[in-house]
Amino acid sequence: MTESKKHRIWILTLFPEYFTPLLSSSGVIARALADPSNGLDLEFRLVQIREWAGNRYGSVDDSPYGGGPGMIMRADVLQRALMEGVVTAGGYQDRSQLQVIYLSPRGKQWNGALAKEKLQSVSCSRDFWPDPSRDFPRDMVLICGRYEGVDERFIKKYVDEEISIGDYILSGGEIAAMAVLDSMLRYLPGVLGNAESAIKESFEDSLLEAPQYTRPRIFEEEEVPATLISGHHKEIAEYQLNASVGLTKQLRPDLYQRYYQQQNKAEIKTSPKTSPKISPRIYLGLVHGPVKNKLGEEVTTSVTNLDVHDIARSCRTYGVSAFFIITPVWAQQQLLERMLGYWKSDSANLYNPDRHDALSLVRLSNSVEEVLRQIDHHNDHQKVKVAVTSATTSGSMAAKMRTDQQLLQELATDGSSMLLLFGTGYGLAPSLFQSADYCLTPIYGAAEDNYNHLSVRSAVAIYFERLFGAAQSGVFLPK
Ligand SMILES: C[S@@+](CC[C@H](N)C(=O)[O-])C[C@H]1O[C@@H](n2cnc3c(N)ncnc32)[C@H](O)[C@@H]1O
Repeated sequence: MTESKKHRIWILTLFPEYFTPLLSSSGVIARALADPSNGLDLEFRLVQIREWAGNRYGSVDDSPYGGGPGMIMRADVLQRALMEGVVTAGGYQDRSQLQVIYLSPRGKQWNGALAKEKLQSVSCSRDFWPDPSRDFPRDMVLICGRYEGVDERFIKKYVDEEISIGDYILSGGEIAAMAVLDSMLRYLPGVLGNAESAIKESFEDSLLEAPQYTRPRIFEEEEVPATLISGHHKEIAEYQLNASVGLTKQLRPDLYQRYYQQQNKAEIKTSPKTSPKISPRIYLGLVHGPVKNKLGEEVTTSVTNLDVHDIARSCRTYGVSAFFIITPVWAQQQLLERMLGYWKSDSANLYNPDRHDALSLVRLSNSVEEVLRQIDHHNDHQKVKVAVTSATTSGSMAAKMRTDQQLLQELATDGSSMLLLFGTGYGLAPSLFQSADYCLTPIYGAAEDNYNHLSVRSAVAIYFERLFGAAQSGVFLPK
């Protein structure tokens, strides 16, 4: 195509007269194109498909092979309309200079983002949204189907893209083509009276537009919201954003979810979460089996929802890398998986992002050995030392016993990570004490009669504060 030619949008249709109201000189689009101050460089060409029928009856359709209702638009007729009516008549070298779009219910769903993208790809003015990374702009051909649709072979060979305007069936592609054109071309300079209108409209930033008001100020006893007549631009903008968010949340939860995710992503980008302050890397294991019962026998306990939630929150608060729930019972794992499946989902992230964040640390495992393999796999084969906790001390553990600070120091010198194990029931099974590298000094409590029965979730929180709390690192100590 030579430089002097305008960019063009071609419309192939059996009903060109449908387009008169949209493209006639009284329409906003035609007026914007005619105004030289807008610097637009675009024209429309309508092609009557019937002119390319190739038979004296002007018939463009035929009955479907294999039977069925209605008629199908013939591939050879559409091929001529495109190749002769557009490529040859338009002076193109070949079809690759065009983007051929068939309006079709099975096509890609049309929306505002696609409208802008397509407008850019047509490039209707020399300096409209210039994007040097793009290929050369290609003129657009919109094909409007009729009857029961178009022969599949034409679509396969000549159509670049199929676009749908919604999940419903229109009697023809003309209304779909008009919807596409109208929603796309209103972004052109000069089409909307006020350029800002397009920016504030529904679906921009995944939000619906805030409710709008005009005169009279009081209508059937209802007044326009006071902020809108306050004259304070900042307050008005805030009010409109809040109204917009509220309305989207209420009427279009799907859109609101997208908005929320975009906001969240932006937040994460601008204020990245600080990595855990603690070094070495810490993992926590809550053992349900093997543990002791009150008779000292080895048993497996049931998983407690409250422990899972509360310990996950403590882990997240103290920068623990992962929280393993250790149970060999398959049914318990299934139960947990169901619960975690919800909390790790996008909708839980929307409902309670902090809880989603904490529960995302939870992993399931059959045994301590399996946890160590899982850590090894994700930890570049870094050394992992196992530290156990217990409410009581025994002489046999003396050599492994460490205070919190001794343990942290040894791990730091050694460059190892730590798996900290807590037992449910009446504590960890003796075999776990034997295989552990360290045992942490117990939480002694302060009751005069030595009552000492903490829940495991309380014990976890106390150990965490002792080991990694701000006071230990000196952050909040007075100078
Ligand atoms: C009656 S429809 C054909 C429907 C087709 N038999 C089917 O079930 O998918 C005739 C023409 O209208 C257009 N059309 C119908 N619904 C549309 C939609 N939702 N989006 C875009 N074009 C549509 C297409 O061009 C189609 O060829």
